[in-house]
Amino acid sequence: MKHLITPNDLTNNEVLEIFEDAKLFQDLSSNSLLNGKIIVTLFFENSTRTRSSFEIAAKRLGANVVNLEVQTSSTNKGETVEDTVANLNAMKPDAIIIRHKDCGLPESLKSYVSCPIINAGDGKNAHPTQALLDLFTIDEHFCGDIYGKKIAIVGDIANSRVATSNLELLPRFGLIPVLIAPERFKVTSNFRTVSDIKTVIDELDIIMSLRVQHERHETTVSKEEQKTQMEEYIKQYCITKELLGDRNILLLHPGPVNRNIDISDELLLDSRSKVLRQVHNGVAVRMAVLKKLILEKKNNNV
Ligand code: NCD
Repeated sequence: MKHLITPNDLTNNEVLEIFEDAKLFQDLSSNSLLNGKIIVTLFFENSTRTRSSFEIAAKRLGANVVNLEVQTSSTNKGETVEDTVANLNAMKPDAIIIRHKDCGLPESLKSYVSCPIINAGDGKNAHPTQALLDLFTIDEHFCGDIYGKKIAIVGDIANSRVATSNLELLPRFGLIPVLIAPERFKVTSNFRTVSDIKTVIDELDIIMSLRVQHERHETTVSKEEQKTQMEEYIKQYCITKELLGDRNILLLHPGPVNRNIDISDELLLDSRSKVLRQVHNGVAVRMAVLKKLILEKKNNNV
């Protein structure tokens, strides 16, 4: 049985198989491939896109979805997440989708279940379906001609699971990442890392802007200093029309976008911005992921 905890749980061939299916699902119409299946979602962290995207994907495939309301669940009565998941598993769902602030939690739950676990984000560790939908959107935009394309990942790289999973997946398909961040958001990495986007802008094919992950910062600086830091950040890292000029650069963001901090209002309306296309493709890609994990489990009868 297959789980999807990080992009490395999939071979390149499996990624391509998922993309083939995602292309077939791209009109987001309904079918009955997962009729009678039950998928549980467990979101311990905030989510708009990912949770509804998974839910819509499951429903488009004919599956039923049970969203566990974690605020009212027994984890608030002292039950561990492991026990909650073991109990849910005893009810025989066909997949469990989980988001949690603790890095590594979805991985550790594998031994408590007899159905696939799909990681919808664990702390700053991994967000595999986001990386898949990002790669799918890039591939669609360049009509498959992605080998050697240069992608700038801009912003809070140190605290972003989107960055981690994209850095795991994109180079496997020939994309070349350049990391762009202020000192406090940099990571130790073999990838080229710069502080000033203007120094590389002419080399870029793609920019992926990231939100500043305030919820993961343990800040000791004063409110006043935070304000100054943010103003500096906007000046250097907010992606604007002025920065892009007339360059033909594909602009991505996983959402939620903090307008005029991550990307300017004006640029979000520009045809180079494919932020909503990512959201659309996310449903098709998640349909393909759910189909693969749930139907393969049945076929292997394990
Ligand atoms: C991201 C996440 O939650 O990791 N959003 C998403 O899933 N589309 C990124 C973020 O919160 O900034």
